Amino acid sequence: MSLPHGIKSVEQLPVEGKRVFVRVDYNVPLEKGTKRVTDDARIRATLPTLKNLIERGARIVLGSHLGRPDGQVKPELSLEPVAHKLAELIGQEVSLADEPVGDGARKVVSDLRDGQIAMLENLRWNPGEEANDEAFARQLASYCDIYVNDAFGTAHRAHASTAGMVKFVGEKGAGFVMAKEIDFLTRLLGNVDRPYVAVLGGAKVSDKIEVLDALLDRVDSLVIGGAMANTFLEAQGKNVGKSKVEKDKLPVARNFLRKAVEKKKTVHLPTDVMVGSGLDDTNPVAVRVDQIGGEQMALDIGPGTVELYRRVLTEARTVFWNGPMGVFEKKQWANGTVSIAQALADNKLALTVVGGGDSAAAIAQAGLADKVSHVSTGGGASLEFVQGLDLPGIAALRP
Ligand code: 3PG
Repeated sequence: MSLPHGIKSVEQLPVEGKRVFVRVDYNVPLEKGTKRVTDDARIRATLPTLKNLIERGARIVLGSHLGRPDGQVKPELSLEPVAHKLAELIGQEVSLADEPVGDGARKVVSDLRDGQIAMLENLRWNPGEEANDEAFARQLASYCDIYVNDAFGTAHRAHASTAGMVKFVGEKGAGFVMAKEIDFLTRLLGNVDRPYVAVLGGAKVSDKIEVLDALLDRVDSLVIGGAMANTFLEAQGKNVGKSKVEKDKLPVARNFLRKAVEKKKTVHLPTDVMVGSGLDDTNPVAVRVDQIGGEQMALDIGPGTVELYRRVLTEARTVFWNGPMGVFEKKQWANGTVSIAQALADNKLALTVVGGGDSAAAIAQAGLADKVSHVSTGGGASLEFVQGLDLPGIAALRP
């Protein structure tokens, strides 16, 4: 796999006997109370990079953040359960420093022997990480001879461990997770096979408006679902009852629909929805979008919409999907999201890319993750990448 702009792959780096800092994105969900890792996909994804380094006798220093501790030491956001999980998956000891930088961290790093792994504590316990502070970046850099970034999920953040420290290290390159993400997501930017269809869902128009705007210029059509579809429906003058709507985003939604018409792009919105009295209602009913009752809440797309979206996706030759079509965590509202996952899995002629976060969880839940071209490990990062933005964590790897 060749990387763009002269970025080196981990395989090309002379890591034998060297201390290699690997920035990973182990920002994984933990079960409340037990602190068990409930989804280890991001940890598993890094195993090929780590195994390659171990086989070549590198001394691995892992750095990651977990959650958003805002520069404070928050024991509930310790990487301890993550280090345990990694040790179990990789079959060797992982020694965890009790701080991101300092005497304890330095000792753990200097005790490393060839092929061993150390992990620094949650980098965001130190305010220098998110501030991209130079002194903190230099401290991190002093723990290694070579820098590898395998944290695609954090590549959209210009933090000390993803950007700042890189210039203070002699050699740098991308791990296999990063390389694969760049490879697949870059294919969505150039001359794509058409039709190119983007499926966007999730709760809020405000979270997605930038990506919607940017994608309008790249795709042939947009397929919209999830609660954010309600805001578009109301913007079109429909009555959506008690459904979640971002009232303050109605002008933005109207403006977006107007732009799509001007640019001659099709925006598909639900024609029917599954409604109920609330999330816990176990008897969803399908209604047309112009017949939603005053007390009803739309919580998934309806069967007519599923059919329509399926047809659009069957004809597509390039698909990017981010965001669920309904409250897929609850069985009774999961059909729309699972059907989209199935439509992507069934289209063997298209390049099918699933952005991370909820849609990655949904496709895994449907057991279809290995039936699409690529499931990204990044949520926000993949959304920024498909807009054509330059991610700081990738830019820092260029010579
Ligand atoms: C993610 O989970 O999207 C990444 O780890 C980045 O996390 P952040 O949004 O807290 O920066």
